[in-house]
Amino acid sequence: MIILITGTRTGVGRALAEHFLDQGHQVVGCSRKSTGLDHPGYRHHGLDLTDPSAVKSMFRAVRREFGHLDALVNSAGRSNMNHFMMTPDSVARDIFDLNFFSVLSCSREGAKLLQKSPSGSAAILNISTVAVPWALDGQLVYAASKAAVEQLTRVMSKELAGFGIRVNSLGLPPVRTVLTRTLPEGMVDSLIERQAIKRMCTMADLVGPVEFLVSERSGFVTGETLFLGGVN
Ligand SMILES: NC(=O)c1ccc[n+]([C@@H]2O[C@H](COP(=O)([O-])OP(=O)(O)OC[C@H]3O[C@@H](n4cnc5c(N)ncnc54)[C@H](OP(=O)(O)O)[C@@H]3O)[C@@H](O)[C@H]2O)c1
Repeated sequence: MIILITGTRTGVGRALAEHFLDQGHQVVGCSRKSTGLDHPGYRHHGLDLTDPSAVKSMFRAVRREFGHLDALVNSAGRSNMNHFMMTPDSVARDIFDLNFFSVLSCSREGAKLLQKSPSGSAAILNISTVAVPWALDGQLVYAASKAAVEQLTRVMSKELAGFGIRVNSLGLPPVRTVLTRTLPEGMVDSLIERQAIKRMCTMADLVGPVEFLVSERSGFVTGETLFLGGVN
C-alpha cells in the first residue's frame, strides 16, 4: 500500500508512519520541520500544509514517483485552549487554515491519485476529536474546525464514492503528544473520566482502527466518524 500521512514529525502522524513502515508499506509523510525518520520506504516533504501550491507540488511529486495512492491520512492539526473572547480572529483563521482548509486541499489533490488505486477501495481518513461531541468550552475554534472536518467527511464520502474512494474520520480522546502538553493541568484527567474506558488512549489503541479504516476490510464503510474510548 502507498499511504500519505500528514504531520509525520511528531505525535499521531509519526506513530502511524512508523507503524505502516514496519508493516512493509510505502509511506509519504510531511511536516514543516524535518523528521529524522530514515527508512527506505519513507519519503518526506518539508512543507507548510496551509500553502495550497506547496500541497499541489507534494502530490505532483507523489504522482511522478508512484502514479497513485491507496490511502491518505489527514493527521496534521493544531488546537488552542482559550475562551473565544480571548481568541483573536487571526488565530481562529490560522487554526481553520490547517485543520480544515489543508484537509480540503490534500483531499482534493489526493483524490486524483486515490482514484487510480488498484485496490478499487482507496481511503481518506481524517482525524477528529472528542472536543466535537463534548462541545468542550475553551476549545471553540478547535472544536468548530474539527466539526467542519466531520461534515466534510460526510459530504465528501458521497461525492467520492463513485470514484472508488471512501472517506471516514477517527475521533480521538486525549493521546499523549505535543498537542496535549498545552492543556491545563487536570484537564486530561477530567476528560478521561468522561470516557467509558477510563484510561489514556495510546498509540497502540489507534493503530487497529486506522488500519481497518484505510484497508479493504472496511470497503463498505464510508462517511463515518468512529470515536475511541467510549465518548457518549
Ligand atoms: N493528541 C491528542 O490528544 C489529540 C486528541 C484528539 C485529536 N487529535 C488530533 O490528532 C491529530 C494529530 O495531533 P497530534 O497530537 O499528533 O499533534 P502533534 O504531535 O502536535 O503533531 C502535529 C504534526 O503536524 C505537523 N504540522 C503542524 N502544522 C503543520 C503545517 N502548517 N504544515 C505541515 N505540517 C504541520 C507537525 O510538524 P511540524 O511542526 O514540523 O510542522 C507535527 O508533525 C490532529 O489533527 C489533532 O487535532 C489529537
